[in-house]
Amino acid sequence: MQDLAGKTAFITGGASGLGLAMAHAFGAAGMNVMLADIETEALARAVAELEARQVRVAAVQCDVTDRAALVAAARETVAAFGKVHVLCNNAGVGAGGAADDMKPADWDWTFQVNLMGVIYGFEAFLPHIRAHGEGGAIINTASMAGHMSPPGMEAYSASKFAVVALTEGWAAQLAPENIQVQVLCPGFVRTRINQSGRNRPARFGGPQVREIVPDDRVANGIDPARVGARVLEALQAGDLYIFTHPDMRPFVQMRFQGIMAGFDSADRSQALAGMDYRTPDLDLLP
Ligand SMILES: NC(=O)c1ccc[n+]([C@@H]2O[C@H](COP(=O)([O-])OP(=O)(O)OC[C@H]3O[C@@H](n4cnc5c(N)ncnc54)[C@H](O)[C@@H]3O)[C@@H](O)[C@H]2O)c1
Repeated sequence: MQDLAGKTAFITGGASGLGLAMAHAFGAAGMNVMLADIETEALARAVAELEARQVRVAAVQCDVTDRAALVAAARETVAAFGKVHVLCNNAGVGAGGAADDMKPADWDWTFQVNLMGVIYGFEAFLPHIRAHGEGGAIINTASMAGHMSPPGMEAYSASKFAVVALTEGWAAQLAPENIQVQVLCPGFVRTRINQSGRNRPARFGGPQVREIVPDDRVANGIDPARVGARVLEALQAGDLYIFTHPDMRPFVQMRFQGIMAGFDSADRSQALAGMDYRTPDLDLLP
């Protein structure tokens, strides 16, 4: 997507970390920015920060687990800026823990925010992006945990694998309409992700601290500003997968090798020997 100046981006989880970094990068490129977040005070601070840099910014308090709130936020965005071109489904949370230590509320909260929040954002904004016919982009924040499943992070990883899957399917479907769908997959970034329980609503168990990964890994992660700059670059290039940690390639290769070993085993299988079946062609990546 080129010619970003004057176009509008809506960013969930925009009051902190990666969302705020994207807002800065987009704003510096001349885009209008609509921030959405569950945390009102952080949202007000983020707006002040962006205004101080002459970014055209507005904000809406919004919980992404509330489908109606996202529909209302989409209307507010169009009311504020006339059109919306870029949707960043970025809000995300996590609670890590041993396999038998995950409570029903941990699963519900993680999947409602990380997965259903992305789906609700997509449903609410796609009609508005389609309506103006100028094309657009939908950038879903997954994680490197959307490509690998480290022990103790299964709920988070499963939700992020699902975001990768949604993105791949939507990207192929919407490419003919000039709407690019992309997935952001960072490794460790210095944000408040490990304190995401600070904003955990009462119906999902209320505020509590449950680290996803050891704190020092996040604290020693890369600067969110790098990710903002990388997303801006990838928005213009139209990359399907937006990676920010090139040194993590071997982890994905390792997983891929494991999957190929499974196919090798199937090739040698007695149970499948002599089977006369051909899978039809599938329309995959755009
Ligand atoms: N920081 C990392 O190392 C890292 C790595 C890979 C992926 N990610 C992903 O990046 C995204 C952004 O996280 P971050 O690292 O910037 O963390 P962060 O906690 O600094 O920012 C997340 C923002 O989302 C908001 N939020 C939480 N629940 C919400 C809800 N229900 N509705 C609306 N907003 C909500 C929070 O208030 C916060 O402002 C998440 O999807 C996260 O999973 C982070």
